[in-house]
Amino acid sequence: MAALDEIRSAALKRIAEAGKLDALNDIRVNVLGKKGELTQLMKNLKDMTPEERPKFGQLVNSAREEIEQKLAEARDMIAKRERELALAQEVIDVTLPAKKANIGHPHPNSLALQEVERVFVGMGYEVVEGPEVEYDMYNFEKLNIPANHPAKDEQDTFYINKDILLRTQTSSVQARVMEKGKLPIRIIAPGRVFRSDEVDATHSPSFNQIEGLVVDKNITFADLKGTLAEIAKQLFGEETKVKFRPHHFPFTEPSAEVDVSCFKCGGKGCRFCKGSGWIEILGCGMVHPHVLEMCGIDPEEYTGFAFGLGLERISLLKYEIDDMRLLYENDIRFLKQF
Ligand code: DAH
Repeated sequence: MAALDEIRSAALKRIAEAGKLDALNDIRVNVLGKKGELTQLMKNLKDMTPEERPKFGQLVNSAREEIEQKLAEARDMIAKRERELALAQEVIDVTLPAKKANIGHPHPNSLALQEVERVFVGMGYEVVEGPEVEYDMYNFEKLNIPANHPAKDEQDTFYINKDILLRTQTSSVQARVMEKGKLPIRIIAPGRVFRSDEVDATHSPSFNQIEGLVVDKNITFADLKGTLAEIAKQLFGEETKVKFRPHHFPFTEPSAEVDVSCFKCGGKGCRFCKGSGWIEILGCGMVHPHVLEMCGIDPEEYTGFAFGLGLERISLLKYEIDDMRLLYENDIRFLKQF
């Protein structure tokens, strides 16, 4: 009993003197904890008579309750005092200027894409998107690139499984749109494409393309030329000329690659156009009748043209950036220049 009284009054004294929450916690552990003084004291129960035991147990418990209550009171008081102290000390001067928020900056690709979209939407095109994880069927087969076609090797493909891949070209969206069967079609489809390429100043395993597709009655190569000539002027300046060079793509016939006159030197030849006066910007052609057919469109009734351009290429040209890797590092100091 004497020991209990001693523990109790010592604990209450320590609580009254404790000035910090940490100190209170120490007292709780020392006195009430699993190895605490009161818990130890309870071990004496076994040496007592059966009559003494309940009485002693009760006394220990009420001492425990009393200490717990005092601890709680002291905790509230100290917390309140600390809060008041903090409020008094931490004065906020609302008249001081705020910290400047760090905000991002539009990426050159975003700026170039906005520009391209603005031009095409102005010509009545709709902007659509397709999935980056794509069926082989849409990325190759329906574009007239069957298994074993050499074009499949040219675009080193990341396969997910035999039928599913990361699209190597936004041309995959062509087949998806045509298949829906809503005619006429006038769309551009921007998006990310993937090829198993090593990173260097002009290559990356992931880059962006913008696909274009028009399908209607009486669409001719003249429409394609007129459209692309107009786009080139809007993107690179009124003086810009276009040159169509015959080329081959499986999904267009005839096909062409298009160069624009160098907007830096006007065609005289400079470092920018590597002295040729021309800069290649895209591939295009008349949609192959077999592609129309495979996508459920009657090639006797409808014709169309398609084109595909690399967004990074436009960004690099427009903003005179000489290394594609800069576009992927996203260094804010670089981005802020555009
Ligand atoms: N998909 C082609 C590529 O990635 C680019 C292209 C060429 C798209 C001609 C077209 C086209 O729509 O008609 O190299």
